Amino acid sequence: MSAKEGFWSRFHKEFMEKNSRLLSVAVLAVVSVGGIVEIAPLFYLDSTIEEVEGMRPYTPLEQLGRDIYIREGCYNCHSQMIRPLRDEVERYGHYSLAAESMYDHPFQWGSKRTGPDLARVGGKYSDEWHRDHMRAPTSVVPESIMPPYPFLETSELAYTNIAANLRALSRVGVPYEETHLENAVSDVRTQLDPFADDYDGFQARYPGAVMRDFDGNPDAVTELDALIAYLQVLGTMVDFSTYEAEADENLR
Ligand code: HEC
Repeated sequence: MSAKEGFWSRFHKEFMEKNSRLLSVAVLAVVSVGGIVEIAPLFYLDSTIEEVEGMRPYTPLEQLGRDIYIREGCYNCHSQMIRPLRDEVERYGHYSLAAESMYDHPFQWGSKRTGPDLARVGGKYSDEWHRDHMRAPTSVVPESIMPPYPFLETSELAYTNIAANLRALSRVGVPYEETHLENAVSDVRTQLDPFADDYDGFQARYPGAVMRDFDGNPDAVTELDALIAYLQVLGTMVDFSTYEAEADENLR
């Protein structure tokens, strides 16, 4: 031990490092400062999600399509989160906002991209393209390795329990009200018919929702109707031509 070594250095080497319990307590104290700085503010914030205009809960049909998306494991190959990196933003559009998945339980951000990100696929293709693509992906993208899902267009959609599904979502904070629940089953059919009697009521419940027959077969309510309705709404709720965020500066 050289005589030049200072007090703190010696204190550390001879006292702290030889006293493992004391060292553990000291480490814990130092680490918890970082923890408190991160955690404490969360108790004083009403919400960690910045609200964005345009977000509405999914329609019953879209929600059912989302359930099929999860059932079929589409998330194994597709993410739904555009990261704020230039190459992503140039390929997929505006980076994803937290608010855009605030009604997703569970969210579908995903962690694997065998196929492209789908966060903004809504409106990118026609319904007809989606029908062909689901039936046989290689018919529209010859080099595609995506599996075909031809059974969706012949599988009748099971939607009689959709009100219970929406009620469960309302318990975790999705703002479905009594009127959404009461009309849930009929709203599935209403969305598939642009001339539906309850057009105005439906639009009041789900502002801006697209109403049309998605699978090209007006006589049946199929799983493909639900899945395409879901794909076509992805990323379309927030109008990014009017949305301005401070963080945008970083990407210009
Ligand atoms: C084994 C991986 C895999 C699975 C599972 C998968 N996909 Fe894909 N998907 C791909 C690949 C690869 C592409 C790119 C080639 C193409 O367009 O077919 C793609 C493309 C797409 C596209 C077009 C995206 C774009 O922007 O061009 C959509 C929409 C899509 N998939 C939806 C789905 C849905 C819905 C499911 C579940 C029913 C699904 N995919 C399951 C691999 C997969």
